[in-house]
Amino acid sequence: MPRIRLLLPALALAGSTALAEAPPAKVATCQACHGVAGVSIAPDIPNLAGQKATYLARQLEAFKAGTRKNDLMAAMAAQLSPDDIKALSAYWSSLPPAPADATAMAPHAATVSAMTLPKDFPQAFVEYQRDQDETNKTLTLRYANKLAVDAARAGKPLPEGSVLLTVNYTPQVGTDGRWTPGAVKNYVGMETRAGWGEAIPPLLRNGNWNYGVWSADGTPRLALQQPRCLACHQPKSADSYVFTLAALKGAGR
Ligand code: HEC
Ligand code: HEC
Repeated sequence: MPRIRLLLPALALAGSTALAEAPPAKVATCQACHGVAGVSIAPDIPNLAGQKATYLARQLEAFKAGTRKNDLMAAMAAQLSPDDIKALSAYWSSLPPAPADATAMAPHAATVSAMTLPKDFPQAFVEYQRDQDETNKTLTLRYANKLAVDAARAGKPLPEGSVLLTVNYTPQVGTDGRWTPGAVKNYVGMETRAGWGEAIPPLLRNGNWNYGVWSADGTPRLALQQPRCLACHQPKSADSYVFTLAALKGAGR
């Protein structure tokens, strides 16, 4: 177990002791984004504390049915039974609404990543896909380490030790109009290692994958984003949580 996890405070503190209702098991997952007490610090994530239970239940049903669209909540609601929806709506509704000055969200285990920018990049990596984004003037190259490429080619799940790195570049445009990689804009990665998923609550867990984002000079930029990476990649569980698995299977062919 990576040492950093031991420094995290326990997460079992949701709600006040005065509550008759024990938090439903799946609440730990919601807390990764909506805050431990149902008060979120992200501008695009609503508070759940004190909201009307019927309203919360209808929203969860709508995310599940796809009539309300949001990639993150679709992935979460897909894993909720009607009983979960009832219990979670009642629980969040029972918490005191946000005080006007609520800003702090306790650190959540799902926001902590053990991944570092791979030291053996680019030597130990294989490019398996390129995307040219004219609107954002970005050339994206997707790389994987040999372990991941070999497993994908063999049609096997990606084993622990697999590392995928997406690198966004400013393009250099040749006289023929062709794009080649110029300066790095940023790095976006995912890596799986034994034990790395242990602290992540079940609905968000991507096996043992952790995620990372770095600026061009290697400074970590993931901040509190990892629950979003996990939520959006979660529905790809049958593909080792990788969207571009088909391209990876064909790497170097
Ligand atoms: C990965 C982050 C993430 C996780 C984990 C997450 N949510 Fe959300 N949730 C969001 C975002 C983002 C929105 C806003 C969606 C939108 O813009 O439509 C949202 C919206 C909602 C809403 C609608 C609220 C409203 O005011 O309309 C409900 C209800 C909700 N979430 C419940 C839950 C529950 C219950 C869980 C745990 C099982 C959960 N969420 C886990 C990110 C998350
Ligand atoms: C809204 C959904 C969504 C979120 C949130 C998201 N991803 Fe992805 N990710 C994708 C999709 C879709 C692809 C496939 C390539 C593409 O379309 O850009 C992808 C591709 C990737 C890849 C290349 C391997 C693969 O799965 O194909 C990496 C690495 C990656 N994402 C890392 C991250 C990290 C790190 C975060 C969080 C900071 C993140 N992703 C958040 C949807 C998402």
